[in-house]
Amino acid sequence: MKNITPTQLLDSLHWRYAVKAFDPNGKIPEEQWQAIANALVLTPSSYGLQPWKFLVVRDQPLRTKLKTFSWNQSQVTDCSHYVVFLHKKTINEEDVEEYMQQISETRGLPTASLEGFRKMILSDLATGPRSKIIQEWAIRQTYIALGNLLTTAAMLGIDACPMEGLDPLEYDKILGLENTRFATSMACALGYRSPQDGLAKAKKVRFPAAQLIEYR
Ligand SMILES: Cc1cc2nc3c(=O)[nH]c(=O)nc-3n(C[C@H](O)[C@H](O)[C@H](O)COP(=O)(O)O)c2cc1C
Repeated sequence: MKNITPTQLLDSLHWRYAVKAFDPNGKIPEEQWQAIANALVLTPSSYGLQPWKFLVVRDQPLRTKLKTFSWNQSQVTDCSHYVVFLHKKTINEEDVEEYMQQISETRGLPTASLEGFRKMILSDLATGPRSKIIQEWAIRQTYIALGNLLTTAAMLGIDACPMEGLDPLEYDKILGLENTRFATSMACALGYRSPQDGLAKAKKVRFPAAQLIEYR
């Protein structure tokens, strides 16, 4: 595998910014989109449980409805791909069982050999102390996917805007999620920056590394 250089990495991360105005005509080519979609799937999660779904909203009238509950931010309707991150509201035995089956099939292991792992997850997330904050736990997992997506897109030269400025409960209603196992965490708009977006040239505002990173 060929690694990129530190300079290439940092160039990509400096190039990316949270786009305020997308070019409505800019469409992500299918091959690039598939790489991004695969990066979402490849996101790591706690125990590997993947308590999420990524809803790509293509329908323009649906996006217009969502925009109303997204502080009217133009990114929702003007971007190429609008991804809504969903998390599982609860984790139950079936979720863990489904995951054990997946491990078993993928790695050719008997499910009996996974019994300890299964019990460990259940006693933590389904019945243990963390079951009380399970929705929070699941939301946190989706933020890992968001971070992964932002970096991946930047490395491909694709613009993005993470979107927390939205009403998740209204999203759930519009997207018909209310009686499902999933709920909205946040969203991410992807596409190409408009030449009119002045923020593209703005300097990055970050605290100094010496303040944020401590070595002991
Ligand atoms: C979780 C999250 C939610 C955000 N929500 C919005 C949003 O709704 N609208 C927006 O314009 N920017 C949003 N941002 C962008 C941030 O304001 C931006 O990332 C931050 O100011 C740093 O600037 P930069 O990303 O351009 O380097 C969000 C960022 C994150 C990480």
